[in-house]
Amino acid sequence: MNPEQLDFKAVAGGIEDRVILPAGYKADVLYAKGDPLFSGLADFKNDGTDVDYDSRSGDEHDGMHFFGMDSSGKYDPESSDRGILVLNHENLEDATLHETPTAKEDAIAANNLQELKKIVDREMNGHGVSCVEIRKDNGKWSVVLDSPYNRRLTVFTEMDMRGPVAGEDFVKTKLTPTGTTRYGTMNNCANGYTPWGTYLAAEENWYAYFQVGNVDNLSEKHRGWLARYGIEGAGWSYRQWDRVPGDQYKRFGVGTSGATALEDFRHEPNLHGYVTEVDPFRPTQKPRVRTGFGRFSHEGAWVAPVQEGAPIVIYTGDDSRREYMYKFVSKAAWSEADRNGGLSAGDKYLDEGTLYVAVFNDDGTGAWKALSTANMDLAGTHSYDDNGTVYQYNFASDAEVLASARLAADVVGATPMDRPEWATVHPNTGDVYLTLTNGNSSNRPSTDLDGANPRAVNSNGHIIRWREEAGDHAATSFEWDIFLFGSSADASSDYNVSGLTADNEFSSPDGLFIDPRGVIWIQTDDGSSGIRGKTNNQMLVAIPGEVGDGESVTVTTSDGNGQESIQTFVGGNAEAVQLKRFLVGPNGCEITGISMTADARSLFINIQHPGEGGSEEDFNRNVSTWPATSGDATAFGEADNRPRSATIVIYREDGGEIAI
Ligand code: FEO
Ligand code: CA
Ligand code: CA
Ligand code: CA
Repeated sequence: MNPEQLDFKAVAGGIEDRVILPAGYKADVLYAKGDPLFSGLADFKNDGTDVDYDSRSGDEHDGMHFFGMDSSGKYDPESSDRGILVLNHENLEDATLHETPTAKEDAIAANNLQELKKIVDREMNGHGVSCVEIRKDNGKWSVVLDSPYNRRLTVFTEMDMRGPVAGEDFVKTKLTPTGTTRYGTMNNCANGYTPWGTYLAAEENWYAYFQVGNVDNLSEKHRGWLARYGIEGAGWSYRQWDRVPGDQYKRFGVGTSGATALEDFRHEPNLHGYVTEVDPFRPTQKPRVRTGFGRFSHEGAWVAPVQEGAPIVIYTGDDSRREYMYKFVSKAAWSEADRNGGLSAGDKYLDEGTLYVAVFNDDGTGAWKALSTANMDLAGTHSYDDNGTVYQYNFASDAEVLASARLAADVVGATPMDRPEWATVHPNTGDVYLTLTNGNSSNRPSTDLDGANPRAVNSNGHIIRWREEAGDHAATSFEWDIFLFGSSADASSDYNVSGLTADNEFSSPDGLFIDPRGVIWIQTDDGSSGIRGKTNNQMLVAIPGEVGDGESVTVTTSDGNGQESIQTFVGGNAEAVQLKRFLVGPNGCEITGISMTADARSLFINIQHPGEGGSEEDFNRNVSTWPATSGDATAFGEADNRPRSATIVIYREDGGEIAI
């Protein structure tokens, strides 16, 4: 049963350097960039001289899950006062991380390799994942310093490759000659968690960290893979790590400099772009890279509710313009005996199965197409046209299908989406919800609309949802409609299709979570002109209905090159689902990451990169000094007030359930 009513007054949009909450709510800063995991570390100075990021919080907090723990140290989802918080550190705020904004360029110009290594180590350790034990005492959460569960995964951490791609020739490098190990996880955006108590860290914009040099000795197929994944020249997030001597650094330069692949790093990009499984409860175990979900810009990996005897199903989208939505269906059927099974349960369910990609038809139906060599559509030779350069390719094995999943999805006619971000499954209806953050004129012109992506230049994004046939998550057909469209409240009704008002106008939905009570939480990452300027990024709440409860409408939009109308299917509207703004973040931040305790009395979210867009010379402080401005940032002796990403925990002041 869904709750009937949300029990708070919507907050107004705002541009203030603080966290704004409804009356009767409060928030504490729990775990900010630089906070130590162990005693004995130097205080975090926040002046760009700090080191040891492999023992303290990394930067840019993103996807996150709270794993409740019982008194014997086992996973207990019902525990609401002790647990392990696991979260991603997606990327770096270059303006605030080092002593000066030009520190790296200066070290390169001076050919000061010792200083450069220090800077690069800080950057590689600032990425990855944090596992942090936290406890609630006297109504307040805090980090347990020196807990045996505390650890950091970084771009240096050794992990095992698992699933069909492990051990293939195309993942063997000078540093990983067997192709069964890999170093590091990077650009971990959103996440997932399994019923057996493990965390799934997705790898999103990993491809942009490489520099590609001379690849003449690479096969046409593998050059085609580089092109299809946008790994060409220096990527937009290329950080010059390969200027530092040593294989741990040289691997970010891709080229055929050696006589064979075992003497260079031509294959390093093939080791990245998967989902990594981490067991928070067995901290000595190496993470395992699950290649069965395919290789692309994984936003996250969301496990559908499990059923005894049914396969495990994982929804995972590719967040790039005109990319696709996928799901993985395990070969093994779920057994309740595997709860708490850790990475060996992961071996059982995640290494063998079938990857599917979604086709959304204009008539409100959809189909999942299998990506495996058993699908005869993938047989034979295909070609990929990269702006006039044509690459021929085939799929010699399932491992190749998975490692070049985008090319396989192209062949089966998957539907290009307006950037798939987070997914969540409604606990009562089984409907799957997916944020499509936005589109622009290059990926969604008026001349290329479809029912599921019906707006040209979709600056504000939408949230689509679907119901698998007969409620079976492993089904190969479904019905969809659109839950909400982002918009400015004052846009025309052609564009403001969901009837948003000042209390709930939003743009660029990204983080998404339906809690066990049936309340949906929507977080925004709005870089567009539609809403930013009226309010900082925000979090909204609603009580969704179900697929099919709305109506068919015609949406008309234009990119100035002719206008096109298209029919789509809209579920309810903002008023019917009680959509209300719950939180507004500090200046320059994105709101992302969400997890709630089982008692619904503590809600963890992340404030990512406050101050973004500020002046480098002022370390972004002209935009934000949060959380120093919150009064909580001096806890660890911080000497500077550069803005920092942080996890906050939200409570109701009367200790009651949040939002209802
Ligand atoms: Fe890192 Fe797609 O957001
Ligand atoms: Ca995101
Ligand atoms: Ca985003
Ligand atoms: Ca961001």
